Amino acid sequence: MKAYRARLLRFDDASGQPLYDEDGLLVVGPDAHGQAVVRAAGAHAALIDRFPGVAVEDLRPRLITPGFVDLHIHYPQTDVIGAPAAGLLPWLENYTFPHESRFHEPAYARGVAEFFLDELARNGVTTALTFATSHPASVNAMFEAAQARGLRFITGKVLQDRHSPDGVRDHTEQSLIDTEALIRRWHGVDRLGYAITPRFAPTSTPAQLRGAGELAAKYPDVWIQSHVAENLDEIRWAAELFPDSASYLGVYGDFGLLRERAVYAHCIHLSAADRALMARTGTVAAVSPTSNQFLGSGFFDYAAADAAGMRYGLASDVGGGTSFSPFRTMLAAYVVGREGQTKPGLSLTPAQLWWQHTAGAARALGLEGVVGNLLPGCEADFVVLNPQATPLLARKTAQAHSLDELLFALIVLGDDRVVERTVIAGR
Ligand code: GUN
Ligand code: FE
Repeated sequence: MKAYRARLLRFDDASGQPLYDEDGLLVVGPDAHGQAVVRAAGAHAALIDRFPGVAVEDLRPRLITPGFVDLHIHYPQTDVIGAPAAGLLPWLENYTFPHESRFHEPAYARGVAEFFLDELARNGVTTALTFATSHPASVNAMFEAAQARGLRFITGKVLQDRHSPDGVRDHTEQSLIDTEALIRRWHGVDRLGYAITPRFAPTSTPAQLRGAGELAAKYPDVWIQSHVAENLDEIRWAAELFPDSASYLGVYGDFGLLRERAVYAHCIHLSAADRALMARTGTVAAVSPTSNQFLGSGFFDYAAADAAGMRYGLASDVGGGTSFSPFRTMLAAYVVGREGQTKPGLSLTPAQLWWQHTAGAARALGLEGVVGNLLPGCEADFVVLNPQATPLLARKTAQAHSLDELLFALIVLGDDRVVERTVIAGR
C-alpha cells in the first residue's frame, strides 16, 4: 500500500458534483485480484490514523485528480493533426485516408502506437476509446502496446468497404470475420476492450453495417464507435445513400448500432427526434470541440442534449482535433457551451468540464466506478498536476480562492507541462 498527500479531487457518483480536499489523502493498494485500486480518499486528518505504517508521499501543493478519459481519438491520425484542408470530406480524402493506408505495416503501426501512448501519458490521459485503421495489424499493434503498459484501453478495426480509396477500403465479408476474430482475441483480456468501428455510414455498405449490428448484438459488452452528424456535406451524402432511414443517426439505429456502450463522435446537427433516440437507447455523444472548431463543423448543443437527457463526454478527436491535451479540450468545450447558452452564468463550470473528461466520460462508457474517478474501489489511474508549472500558472493559482478558480486557471493556462506524473494501475 502507498498513500499520497495532496490536494485531491474526485466526484460524487450519483450527482457528479466535485468532492475536494485541500489537504487530502489518497491511499492505493491491491484488491483481492491484485489490481491496484483506491483504498481510501478524503481529508488527510480524517484518514491518516486508519493507515499506520503506510508510506505517505507528500505532494502538496500539487493536485491529484482522476486520469482523463478521452472518448474519441484516432491513434493513426497522430501525424495528421493540423493538416491544411477545408472541411471534413477534403480532409479525409487528401490527408487522412492516404496516411491511414500506411498502417497495414505492423512495424509502422507499432511505432505510431508507442508514440501515441507516450503522448497520452504526457497529457494525463489514462483511458481512451480510439480508432485504429481498417487493417487488423493496426489493432494488434495498439492492443499489444496498451497491454504492455497495463492500460484500460479500447480500440477496434475500422470498417469501410466503400467510397474509400485502395489501401484503406476493406472487404465486406472479411472485415466482419476479422472483427469477430479480434473481439475473441482481445476483448476482456487484462484491461483491454474491443469496439466495433464502422468509420461512418457513407463508407459502409448496408451489408457491412448489418454485419456490424449482428456482432454488436452477439457481443453486448463490446463497445461501438463511429461518427455522426458532423458536417453538412457529410449529412447530405448519408441521406442520399440511405434514403429509407429517417435521419443519419437513424441509419445506425436501423442496423442495430444504437445501444449502451455505443459512442458517436460529434452529434452536432441532430434533430429533437435524434436526441430523443440517443437518450432512449443509451447511446453516447463524444463531444469533440477542438476538432469541430478546426474543421469548421459546428457546435455541439449542450442545452438541447441536456433537455433530451442524452449522455455525453469529452474527446480530443485527434487528428481532426488539434491537441492531445485535456486542458485544450475543456477550454474549447467551455467556449462551445456559450454558443447555445440558454441560462445566465457560466455555460459550463470548471468542475463540470473536468467531470465530462473524467468520471462523466467513464460513466458514458459504462465504466463508472472503474476508471475516471478516485472513490474507493476505482482502479488507481490518476494524475499529479503541478499548479506552479509555469510562472503565470503559479501566479494565477496562488490567487485562486475556490476550487472553481483553481480548476479554471488550469483549464485556461494548463498544458502538458502541468502534468507532472501519470499513474497507471498504481505505477
Ligand atoms: N468521419 C469519418 N471519418 C472521420 C475521421 O477520421 N475524423 C472525423 N473527424 N470525422 C470522420
Ligand atoms: Fe473522429
